[in-house]
Amino acid sequence: MNTKLTSQRLLQRAKISSIGTYVPDRVLTNADFERMVDTSNEWILERTGIRERHIAAQGQATSDLAAEAARRCLELRGMAPDEVEVIIVATVSPDMPFPATACLVQGKIGAHQAWGFDLGAACSGFLYALQVGAKLIESGAQKTVMVIGADTMSSFIDYSDRSTCILFGDGAGAVLLEAAAEGELGIIDYAHEIDGSGASALRLPAGGSLLPASAETVANKQHYVHQDGQTVYKFAVRKMAEIAEKVLDRNGLTGQDLACLIPHQANRRIIESTAQRLGLPLDRVIINIDRFGNTTAATVPLAMGTARDEARIKRGDLVVLASVGAGFTAGATLLRWEMD
Ligand code: UT7
Repeated sequence: MNTKLTSQRLLQRAKISSIGTYVPDRVLTNADFERMVDTSNEWILERTGIRERHIAAQGQATSDLAAEAARRCLELRGMAPDEVEVIIVATVSPDMPFPATACLVQGKIGAHQAWGFDLGAACSGFLYALQVGAKLIESGAQKTVMVIGADTMSSFIDYSDRSTCILFGDGAGAVLLEAAAEGELGIIDYAHEIDGSGASALRLPAGGSLLPASAETVANKQHYVHQDGQTVYKFAVRKMAEIAEKVLDRNGLTGQDLACLIPHQANRRIIESTAQRLGLPLDRVIINIDRFGNTTAATVPLAMGTARDEARIKRGDLVVLASVGAGFTAGATLLRWEMD
């Protein structure tokens, strides 16, 4: 018998071993928006919790943001780019429809041994990519997977539409997945859901195969983000708590067992409501929407970076990452923090 074909690979656990984040230098404050559209700092702050967001420079694309986050992630781990085996980029704002942004990142950071691909699930993209990466490690197939959440939403925003332009920012966060050591739990479990009945509530209508780019689609502003804010809000405020409870329930846990909730940053009110339903005081919830706005696939890794930078999390802590986004998509990951 050919043992190479039949030998079982041992299951092992995956853990996050490093985090790198990057946001562009340019900042748009609420005061800047007061000069651009009919809005006010008070409205934006009260309805969303956002004070400012970072915006990519002209010519700075999602692969640039992602590559910088990846470089920082590797540097903090002390790992050479050649040691990265897989690159997964979660994004809805790739540099272009193809080639995949993962290929562009691979070239930019010089990860000569890596294969990879993009994954599109809007604001839940990073959590879904994290699970795919974890499964590649758990199966024994790969030793190092770089998972990146990166979006340059400013390229799809109509800066004359006050209902959407104030919400989004640009940024990237990268994590390295490796095999957990003896006694480490790392990534423990996940709950994911998609619901296509909400597809029209948040979308970029044109530029795909349904409505290819034309002078008409541009004139109709169909290459910009369109959102029915109330519908998305109602779904998100219910689903974010439900999905987090789902992953806790099936592991015999409650919000009380968590050291930290790291949620998608779309609206401070959604985060606060989720925390309340989970019974978590806000000092155990990572909120950085005031500084970055909604960076789509980048919010969760950026918030993980904030948790680390502010020493809000320590080795051995139980953490839930949670997200809801366009699609609809929803996700929650339960993990034990295995970094100092
Ligand atoms: O990450 C993907 C998932 N996305 C989300 O989770 C976003 C979910 N939705 C939201 O966070 C909220 O719906 C928004 C922040 C987008 C909007 O807040 P809202 O409290 O739902 O406002 P609204 O859309 O119901 O609008 C209320 C009023 C309207 O005026 P009228 O019709 O009552 O006169 C809007 O025209 O607020 C007006 N408005 C604004 N006023 C000042 C909308 N945008 C603005 C603005 N400044 N920027």
